[in-house]
Amino acid sequence: MSRTLQKYLNELLQTEIASFLEYSLRSASCGDPCMERELAAFALEEAEHIRQLMSLIMRNGGEVTTSAPQGFPADSLDDFLERSLAREDDAIRRFTALLPLLPTEGDRMTLQSSIDQEAQHREHIERLRVSCRFDSARS
Ligand SMILES: [Fe+2]
Ligand SMILES: [Fe+2]
Repeated sequence: MSRTLQKYLNELLQTEIASFLEYSLRSASCGDPCMERELAAFALEEAEHIRQLMSLIMRNGGEVTTSAPQGFPADSLDDFLERSLAREDDAIRRFTALLPLLPTEGDRMTLQSSIDQEAQHREHIERLRVSCRFDSARS
């Protein structure tokens, strides 16, 4: 694996760790059982993306480097949803750019499944954002 690809994959890993932490934190603190379950499910999928990326890097002779992201809790639900959308967009863009650089078809399929899942997260977050705005407009 080239040093450049290793660097990009490790940067992606940091984004995935940040997503895992933020979905976990919001799930634990939102106080809405329905959203709590949905965000906890997202966090589990992000954890799987982390594991898949680590496996992909090591399987191709690279070295995994991680550090705890400098995260901070969102100021509000709206802030959380906006940041989550931006992070999902970022993940989709970066994963897609890396796709042709991966050495094997299996690696590309793994990454493609993560891209598909990030797109689903994005759709869900967008729906949550619309329904939250609708709820706050009614109250
Ligand atoms: Fe992810
Ligand atoms: Fe995601």
